[in-house]
Amino acid sequence: MTTRDNVRQATETAAAAQEMTALRADFPDHEIWREDDGGHVRYIARGQHPHTVVTADLGELRTALSGASGQSLAAASQPASSPAPRFDPATPHPARVYACWLGSKDHYPADRQAAQQVAACRPQVVAGARANREFLGRVVRYLAGQRGVRQFLDIGPGLPAPGATHAVAQAIAPESRVVYVDNDPVVLAHARALLTSTREGTCQYLAGELRDPEAILKAAAQTLDFTQSAVILAAVLHFLPDADDPAGVVAALAAALAPGSFLAISHLTADFAPEAVSSAMAAYNALVPAQITARSHAEVTGLIGRLSLVAPGVVPVSEWRPDHAPLHGVSADVYAGLATMSGNSGISRRIPDRQARDLGRKAGVKASAR
Ligand SMILES: C[S@@+](CC[C@H](N)C(=O)[O-])C[C@H]1O[C@@H](n2cnc3c(N)ncnc32)[C@H](O)[C@@H]1O
Repeated sequence: MTTRDNVRQATETAAAAQEMTALRADFPDHEIWREDDGGHVRYIARGQHPHTVVTADLGELRTALSGASGQSLAAASQPASSPAPRFDPATPHPARVYACWLGSKDHYPADRQAAQQVAACRPQVVAGARANREFLGRVVRYLAGQRGVRQFLDIGPGLPAPGATHAVAQAIAPESRVVYVDNDPVVLAHARALLTSTREGTCQYLAGELRDPEAILKAAAQTLDFTQSAVILAAVLHFLPDADDPAGVVAALAAALAPGSFLAISHLTADFAPEAVSSAMAAYNALVPAQITARSHAEVTGLIGRLSLVAPGVVPVSEWRPDHAPLHGVSADVYAGLATMSGNSGISRRIPDRQARDLGRKAGVKASAR
């Protein structure tokens, strides 16, 4: 390190220390400290409201703590068409409700209550969330390990949890580049602090709105060149109602990808238990501001449009290239599929609608018989 580097580092450290002092004065109800994990610095604030914020950036920490008093965190980075999420621990939040079902620790009483109320209508939601997370691991492992994909755009990654896209991809190919995009500032703050790349690869975290795929692609292009790459849309498209044209969003993302690229989807469905899932969905939509829409097999297949499906096609999530029998022994209300832009897949064309409907019906019978 040169003398100039030393001076700059000392100046930055002094500025950070000053800002920490200022934050402690401005937010006296929080305990605020810094951790250095082998060169990865993170700042942590623990209090009652919100109870913990973790971030690699002091500016973001201030914004998150200010957000607890009702300020919008993401207004500056959100496209005008999208509702800017607010940091409000009293309002159930999609990523935190999902974290409850996954059994991770980042949630508040309001999130837990919503998670429990939804699970009371459809207990399988817990197995569904876990099966969905396992699918994410399998599909990224398949893409990195068997298809040689080294660039991933993961939209709606949720709060950091084991088996994140970059961790799975970089365990196979350390040089993998991963861009995470979420419309939620809390998700991004946690991701920046906790999801760290290998030295050879890259992890980028962007604020973005799925309803604006062009803006996402433009921002992600700073890290990805969209030659053989994969877009991951795991458990996020069901946050787009039909009015927001989810098929158009998928088509816009797919259009940016070179031949040999992939698009992975998982999506909530009511096919296997229409009444129970409808009442679970009604409970979710009554409590969580981000509304959710279940779709049938034909509708989920329709989102993929004209892309070629990789075998086995759009199937119940635990049946997508399983590496073991379903762990949880109950059905999951989620479909999963992988499409490719090459036409070089196990299924040469999109499943015709009638066949898709049959598969949905068959899966429904099978699932309800389990
Ligand atoms: C259920 S979590 C899914 C997490 C992860 N993809 C998985 O499958 O394990 C949904 C994530 O999508 C994000 N999300 C929801 N609607 C979104 C939108 N319109 N644009 C971007 N992200 C969105 C939420 O903030 C949350 O992080």
